[in-house]
Amino acid sequence: MRVVSNHRAISEMASSLHKMCRSRLKMDRLFSCQPGARRKSVCSRIRAGRPEEAAFLGSHIEAEGWDGSMYDITAQLTLDPNCLLVAADDNNRPVGFGMSIQCAKDVVYMDNLIVLPEARGQGIGRNIWTAMVAQGGSSNIILDGVPAMVDWYRRQGFVHPGVDLTGYTMPLMNTIKQEVTPACRLELLSEEHWPEMMRLDRAVYPSLDRERVLRAFFVGRGVKTLVALDGRRVVGFGSIHEKRDGFHGLRNVTAENEKVADYVIRGLLSHLSAGSTVSFRVPSCKRPPRCFKNAEKGMTVTRLYSKSTIDVITDKLFVSIANIV
Ligand SMILES: CC(C)(COP(=O)(O)OP(=O)(O)OC[C@H]1O[C@@H](n2cnc3c(N)ncnc32)[C@H](O)[C@@H]1OP(=O)(O)O)[C@@H](O)C(=O)NCCC(=O)NCCS
Repeated sequence: MRVVSNHRAISEMASSLHKMCRSRLKMDRLFSCQPGARRKSVCSRIRAGRPEEAAFLGSHIEAEGWDGSMYDITAQLTLDPNCLLVAADDNNRPVGFGMSIQCAKDVVYMDNLIVLPEARGQGIGRNIWTAMVAQGGSSNIILDGVPAMVDWYRRQGFVHPGVDLTGYTMPLMNTIKQEVTPACRLELLSEEHWPEMMRLDRAVYPSLDRERVLRAFFVGRGVKTLVALDGRRVVGFGSIHEKRDGFHGLRNVTAENEKVADYVIRGLLSHLSAGSTVSFRVPSCKRPPRCFKNAEKGMTVTRLYSKSTIDVITDKLFVSIANIV
């Protein structure tokens, strides 16, 4: 898989986001300042986000030190072109962001609630939140809360717990790429693998059809997705993408057992040079995959649901698909 340069990747993403968002701009759903706002020194008119504003959001995600990147934003907009909301100031410039992503029937994932640091504490976050919840409608809404906000989310009614996720980063050593006895056969994901891959995904998410989600995250520029096969049976899968120069994100490593997961991960890392950094999230109830035993532990986010918990069976889930259900 060709890994495009960071600069080129961003301009290509901006162009594809432009196409995706055109229909959204017609929607032009506006929310005015909410009664809950305490001070109004910056008016927070909520409107649909524009393609070029997605890149601006990307820079703030990076500034927060979160795991997400333009790759995730692009996948989220592929899933739901209407998901990006922007709080705009009097000059129509973004001062905050939020996303409500329709990712399955009656399931919405909320992400990227961010207010620019200089505009915080003025009711803008509350306004975006109100618009995000309104966009979620009657769906079961899911979020992964940072520690500081968890109690606040619970007070908003997000009381159903889920599988918490812990972030890790690790600079790549040569040892990661050492040869191991093949546990199975690895192939780049192709159309023929999908039915079998979804069978394995159902072992983790028994009540949720995630095919649209995985197609948005696993197919596209700058992402490498591998499938592990035992004969014709899919026994593992996972993906890696470039976040920015030298930084890569691992997503959704699912496997029959730890040996297969390890083999998939080594395959995903095989094109990276030593010194690259990999980040990923693991269900907090588990330790990181074997080949990442020296990874540096980061933040734990708390998964909360508005209506009911969606079952996630973590036995076969080794690395999570951060930033979505
Ligand atoms: C969280 C954030 C979006 C809030 O935006 P804001 O415009 O400052 O928020 P508001 O002034 O509208 O306050 C909204 C509510 O959030 C609460 N709140 C804001 N920042 C908070 C914090 N750091 N910890 C706990 N509660 C907080 C306020 O007390 C307020 O509660 P109330 O409406 O019940 O009175 C903003 O601080 C931010 O961008 N933080 C960094 C990104 C982040 O952590 N986002 C949440 C990801 S899960």
